[in-house]
Formats: sequence, C-alpha cells, structure tokens
Amino acid sequence: MPTDLLRIAILKERAAGETRVALTPETAKKFIALGADVAIEEGAGLNAAISDSDYTAAGATVCGAAKAVEGADIVMGIRAPDPLDLAGAKDGAMVAATFDPFQRRDLVDAYAKAGFEALSMEFMPRITRAQSMDVLSSQSNLSGYKAVIAAADQYGRAFPMMMTAAGTVQAARVFIMGVGVAGLQAIATARRLGAQVSATDVRSATKEQIQSLGAKPVFVEDVAGIEGEGSGGYATEMSEEYQKAQAALVSSHIAKQDIVITTALIPGRDAPRLVSDAQIATMRHGSVIFDLATAQGGNVEGSKPDEIVERHGVSIMGYSNTPAELSPDTSALFSRNLFNFLSAFWDEDAGAIALDEEIGDAVRLTKGGKVVHERLTA
Ligand code: NAI
Repeated sequence: MPTDLLRIAILKERAAGETRVALTPETAKKFIALGADVAIEEGAGLNAAISDSDYTAAGATVCGAAKAVEGADIVMGIRAPDPLDLAGAKDGAMVAATFDPFQRRDLVDAYAKAGFEALSMEFMPRITRAQSMDVLSSQSNLSGYKAVIAAADQYGRAFPMMMTAAGTVQAARVFIMGVGVAGLQAIATARRLGAQVSATDVRSATKEQIQSLGAKPVFVEDVAGIEGEGSGGYATEMSEEYQKAQAALVSSHIAKQDIVITTALIPGRDAPRLVSDAQIATMRHGSVIFDLATAQGGNVEGSKPDEIVERHGVSIMGYSNTPAELSPDTSALFSRNLFNFLSAFWDEDAGAIALDEEIGDAVRLTKGGKVVHERLTA
C-alpha cells in the first residue's frame, strides 16, 4: 500500500486572457479513482464554465491558492505558474504545463532554481503512443475550427452555395495555408459549412490528406518541398527558391479567394511569412484573412493579435490565444491529455510518477536544480 496519496494541485491561470483550466471535474474524478488527492484553487474553472461546486461534486478540494499547492507532488497548469506561487509544494515536485521554453528561458531557469521538475507539454514526442497526451494537437485542432467560424462570421456573406427562388448565392472560396492539425480541421470545418476549399503546405505528404477531405491541393511543383514527414512531422525553413515559387503560386491563387486561413508554424522560430501586403491588395473587397500564427509573429503582413486590421478592403484577423476562445472544449481536451500522460506512468505502490526514458527525456526541462533538456543545454 502506498504510504501517502499523490497530491495534485491546480491553480487558477494567471496570464491575461487565459480562460482555460488544466483540470476538469471529469479528469479530477479519474485522478481520484487512481488514488490521488486533488486540490484546486477557488474560481479556477469559472472562465471555462466550470463552477467550484462542480469540482467539489467530483471529489476535489476547492480552496485558496496557497492551501491548494501545500504538499503537492504534482502541479498541473495550462501555462506553468510562477514558481514563487508554488513555494509550499513538495521539494522536487513535478509541474506539468506548457512552458514556452524557447521564449521563456527565464521561467525555465527559475524552475531549475526552485528545484522543481518542469515537464513541458509542448515537447511531447510525436510518437503514436503519445498522441493522446499531445496538447499541441488537441489545442490546434479546435483552433482550426474556431478560425473558420470566426472568419465566417466576419465575412458577412454565406459560405454554402444556395439556390433560391430569387437566384443563386455563390459558395465562398476558402484557402487554407499550412495543413497540420489546425489546417486539417479548418478544411473539414469549411467543407462542412459548404465552402469550396483549397489548401497548400510545404510537406508533400499533406496532398493526399487534403484530397481525402474533399479539398483541392495547391502545390509548388517545380521546386522540391519536404518529402515525407520530416523530423516528427514538423516543417523546417524552406529554401529561398522554394519561398519564391510559393509566393508566385500563392499570388495567382489568393486573388480569387474570399477567405484565407493561415496556420504555418516552424517550432522555435518566428512563423514563416506567407501573405504579403501586395498579395492582400489583389483580393476582393470584403475578403477575410484569419492568421492563426499571429501570436508567433504572423503568417500575414500587417496582422495584429486580437485586432481586425483593414487593408485594401480586406479584414485581417487573428487571436493571441485561439484555444482560449473555446475554453470549455479546449480545457476538456487539455485536461485529458494531462491525465493520459500522468496516468500512463502512475506507480501507485511507489506513490510516484515514474516517467520512462523516451517520454521523460523529451519533456523534462529541469530536475535536481538544473536545466537538463538537450535542446536547452546545447
Ligand atoms: P505545425 O503547427 O508545426 O505547422 C502547421 C503546418 O504548417 C504544418 O503542416 C507545416 O508543414 C506547415 N508549414 C510550415 N511552413 C510552411 C510554409 N512556409 N508554407 C506552407 N505551410 C507551411 O504542425 P502540426 O499541426 O503540429 O502538425 C504537423 C504534422 O505532425 C502533421 O502531419 C501531424 O499529423 C503530425 N503530428 C503527429 C503527432 C503524433 O504522431 N503524436 C502529433 C501531432 C502532429
């Protein structure tokens, strides 16, 4: 029998505009069934439509922040809390959250100094058994959906072709740039709404995926792109020659589009620029561009987080935190990702989480007072 129940703590997210919560009552119940003690700060779920009494009904303790972290073995967050707020947690406690490790090196160093074991959910390896633990996928998926819904709302015309007694309404033409998890969901959503959809990516493996969703692939044919899936399925920066060919192709295509959704990201770098101001000028008045990468520097020239910028009669929009725009659903998926991760390594007898090498080494940023991740120590 374990001597002590594993204690899990969740704080209310402190970042401005962060509406998500890392634990839902559903997963609280599952952790408790595994033999954990769960404490959550008062009001932590309110912005995700979860009340304190929902947590209490699930068996969690709802209390003040300091009390919630007191003696915690594991802290879970959407974003890693300030380690100063975790002063009462156990020495060397695990903190599973997103850390934005390349941009927030200061935070990683602070975690090392505080002696916690920081587990960065962004670094979850892209292997089959970790798919259910991958917060980037789960959050991107819903972001792709939301981008289309927000763009459709801004567009002010109909998406599907409609034949009415008064005449025909033309289908909207939607172009998705970047066909990863968000892009695939954006294609599916725009198709469901009845738009005519086309899409492009630098990874040639996406061509078939685009077709299988009933959309038209638009690809640079005469310059080599990324064959296969590359490292972990991620894109790398493209050659200058490729970028030129892509710009020419996009220029001719984009002029005929009503909605453009951009989703292109390269891990650890600024987002690649995919749409220039000159290209925007060729689009029809009333068109909409939704830039899902706006918080990473933007795929679209002139895009600004949380603003609708008007250029040449085109609305350019994007959120600084798209998953926070549908927090009940994104919180539910994030929380399940964390449960799938931690429960896979739950060692009840030892009263501890025992990560294996493949996943542990991939996500662990700090341990024993040091920064230990190879991407941060090299
Ligand atoms: P991402 O968020 O890093 O990037 C989005 C998309 O933009 C990618 O498809 C990328 O190729 C594309 N892109 C980058 N630069 C571009 C450019 N200049 N022009 C056009 N497109 C550009 O990617 P995401 O969504 O994280 O997924 C990438 C791949 O990884 C997918 O094939 C996905 O299925 C795979 N994956 C596998 C997982 C697993 O096995 N556990 C988990 C998550 C994703």
